[in-house]
Amino acid sequence: MTRIFSGIKPTGHLTLGNHLGAVRQWVDVDQHKSDALFCVVDLHALTVDHDPARVRRLSRQAATLLLAAGLDPARCTLFVQSHVDEHTRLSYLLECTASDGEMRRMIQYKEKSARERATGGSVRLSLLTYPVLMAADILAYSADEVPVGDDQAQHVELTRDLAVRFNQRYGHTFTVPKAVLPSVAARVMDLADPTSKMGKSHAETGGIVYLLDEPEVVRRKIMRAVTDSGSEVVYDRETRPGVTNLLEILAACIGGSPVELAEGYSSYGALKRDTAEAVLELLRPVRERHAELCADPGYVDAVLRTGAERARTLARPTVDAAYAAIGLMPPA
Ligand code: AMP
Ligand code: TRP
Repeated sequence: MTRIFSGIKPTGHLTLGNHLGAVRQWVDVDQHKSDALFCVVDLHALTVDHDPARVRRLSRQAATLLLAAGLDPARCTLFVQSHVDEHTRLSYLLECTASDGEMRRMIQYKEKSARERATGGSVRLSLLTYPVLMAADILAYSADEVPVGDDQAQHVELTRDLAVRFNQRYGHTFTVPKAVLPSVAARVMDLADPTSKMGKSHAETGGIVYLLDEPEVVRRKIMRAVTDSGSEVVYDRETRPGVTNLLEILAACIGGSPVELAEGYSSYGALKRDTAEAVLELLRPVRERHAELCADPGYVDAVLRTGAERARTLARPTVDAAYAAIGLMPPA
């Protein structure tokens, strides 16, 4: 059976980008056809300036929202990264496999470190090594597929390179995984700035739809989405990024191709109205289920405890094999 692994960082509230780019695929497809593991990757939230209480709160919220979105603990394994030591155990071995040049080439590192430096902040070393920890997340479980949004494709590529290199140097240890991207909405853009990704930790929130936004807030954000000059509804990322983003969101919500959907609209207003309604329809059950689950924190804790136990059992033999292969003396 195909093994699937994916993760989400508790650095902010989950967005429509997370949902359409990744989580929906996990819920609708992955957990049904594969042995799937999903992880709240809390260690990754420590790579930038963070507030400890907020990370703790957001980790629980992310797990609760993933269950609300439809992950079923009877069908998949849901857990918190820091509850399973194998991730950091393996990460160090992969640091001894990767080169510093290859880490500095990662687009996310270049962008985030430039932003930190521009505001006078210092860059945590973990921001540079973070893709290696992500590789460890994936390789520890011998995952075949990694369903992610477009922004993570380069990190999965690095994971493949590290797996191949480790296997060549030390003997076959890791499965070489591949990224699986959704066919639409692999990169949902910010509604107020459709040339940049809808990211959950951005400071300006007017163009970001959060899964827990009140319905009227969602409607307002979509109705105020920046559109392009001109008035025809055309799908073209280069010249019409705003309208194209709305078409992608609409297509992801109701099905169909964004190019064909465009033909049914003669005004931006109608497109925005339909997109807002489609998004509200998609999010309504998630919000309702989230409220129910919040009333039962013991249930969420139990799911995460069982998930971590299973994850540990799966990861341990692979990580032990990597320790032996690289030349570390086994304990007596
Ligand atoms: P993150 O919020 O960075 O932890 O991302 C969790 C998952 O959501 C990853 O698979 C990302 O690629 C995906 N994702 C995040 N933002 C977006 C976006 N704006 N559009 C599509 N996918 C996204
Ligand atoms: N780096 C991913 C992101 O920012 C989150 C992540 C961490 C992840 N480990 C992973 C995704 C393993 C897939 C598989 O979105």
